[in-house]
Amino acid sequence: MSSPTTPLACKPVPESVPPVEPCTLAIFGGSGDLARRRLIPAVYNLLLDGLLPAKYAVIGLGRKPMTDDEFRNLVKEGIGKHSRQALAEDTWATFKNHLFYIQGENEDAQTYATLRAKAEEVERAMQLPGNRIFYLSIPPSSFASVCEGLAQAGLATSAPTASPYSRIIVEKPVGRDLGSAQQINEVTGKVFDESQIFRIDHYLGKETVQNLMVVRFANSIFEPIWNHKYIDHVQITVSESEGVGTRASYYEEAGALRDMIQNHLLQLLCLVAMEPPYSLDPNVVRNAKMEVLRCLRPIVGKDVEQYTVRAQYAEGIAHNQPVPGYRREKGVNPNSTTETFVAVKAFVENWRWSGVPFYLRTGKALPKRASEVAVQFKDIPQILFNANPSTPQPANVLTLRIQPDEGLSLRIISRVPGTRAQTHPVEMDFQYSDVFGCPSPEAYERLLLDVMAGDASRFMRRDAVEASWDWVTKILDGWAQQKLRWLPEYQAGTWGPVEAERMIEHDGRTWRIL
Ligand SMILES: NC(=O)c1ccc[n+]([C@@H]2O[C@H](COP(=O)([O-])OP(=O)(O)OC[C@H]3O[C@@H](n4cnc5c(N)ncnc54)[C@H](OP(=O)(O)O)[C@@H]3O)[C@@H](O)[C@H]2O)c1
Repeated sequence: MSSPTTPLACKPVPESVPPVEPCTLAIFGGSGDLARRRLIPAVYNLLLDGLLPAKYAVIGLGRKPMTDDEFRNLVKEGIGKHSRQALAEDTWATFKNHLFYIQGENEDAQTYATLRAKAEEVERAMQLPGNRIFYLSIPPSSFASVCEGLAQAGLATSAPTASPYSRIIVEKPVGRDLGSAQQINEVTGKVFDESQIFRIDHYLGKETVQNLMVVRFANSIFEPIWNHKYIDHVQITVSESEGVGTRASYYEEAGALRDMIQNHLLQLLCLVAMEPPYSLDPNVVRNAKMEVLRCLRPIVGKDVEQYTVRAQYAEGIAHNQPVPGYRREKGVNPNSTTETFVAVKAFVENWRWSGVPFYLRTGKALPKRASEVAVQFKDIPQILFNANPSTPQPANVLTLRIQPDEGLSLRIISRVPGTRAQTHPVEMDFQYSDVFGCPSPEAYERLLLDVMAGDASRFMRRDAVEASWDWVTKILDGWAQQKLRWLPEYQAGTWGPVEAERMIEHDGRTWRIL
């Protein structure tokens, strides 16, 4: 694989962007952490890149009392600290005039009357057509109240093709098991048509995640070998270096399986395993992913012992800081059985993937923050360069790095220069930043733009959310039946518990060191 020596000209959004109409973005949870660190900086970056429509407004909602100016100051600080591109005073001077704030409880009908009045006032003043996007950046316990409040105030039009449009973005977690996910889907589905609902999994907005489809379907060399005949196994790792930090109350209720596997890792698995979609139409792509979820072998009852490992971090060094064991973290129940690490051996039971394990692994307080998909090909026959069983040749591995250093590498075996017939594995490596010369847009930038354009390809459809919860809930039920009072532990700053090593070593394989 060769890469151009000179970086390509920097284009912020490489794919063609459908026309984006002027719109009003109302963020429930506008005073919260996600809005400040990710959402509003994303809107700001779209503006800097010339991708926002000329006319737009952002209305933040929250319980904290704030004036528009106080909200603008909060946003400015967030952009200053978290924006991909630096705060430019001249752009800020224009941007801030498009930001507004409303104080209100999600459960109070008055909030929606105020929102409607404010939206109409702003839209009149800014000559906006009344296209509205509602972002639920709030705890899921408020989703139902917001949907009902929007409907009662006449803020939501349920006709999918209505003009002006109304759309809703649902942040994760969409539930904590199959039943609660179905409930959330019911309440949003009562008010909005499925085509108006954008369930966000920000992993699907990441550059390398999008590149998975391009690698597979824009290159002729991969498809013929992308199956059980040539692939030995797949490892998908999403590792976090930090401990639970200040998010203990959320994490205690979630755990690694719900927080990461149900959404990010299963979505990655779908992109690796899906059949080639016949077009890029959002529903065609989502149908192909859905087929993978349907083929996942359920892990039920006692199978959890063989196919899953869960654990908690013990005292150690994480993210260069000493951390106490998980059960000693502030806000964590000292008898907690919430897992901070999970490894799963999954199988996609179809013709293409028959017998190929997909090893999924995620955890907190691991040695580094990194995510990758590694496709390991089968060993070569034990002849020629692989004739000596005591020194087996390492297998070929295609690795897609999602973060950090987004890119792709292929491990091949090469001859060591010299007179002896010696071989050595080498990496052919490609990094986005080397070739394209500019940092990729943040996932939230791309995803917000998709919602404005009405393109749902990179969002989770209801059936996919429920299918992945169905699979995950069976594992949760199996765990509940185990009635464990203590989970295995791993020292913070290491790659997980010995039980996870044993699970993969039992199959004659090893986890990758990232
Ligand atoms: N932070 C992340 O990186 C991240 C990533 C993925 C998903 N999420 C999810 O996104 C949601 C928001 O996360 P966050 O980190 O921004 O949480 P946060 O900092 O706690 O903010 C929550 C926001 O919701 C508002 N809120 C909560 N209950 C409300 C109510 N009853 N009525 C009106 N407003 C209410 C809060 O208003 P006040 O603060 O004014 O009271 C605040 O603006 C959560 O569900 C979280 O799980 C967060």
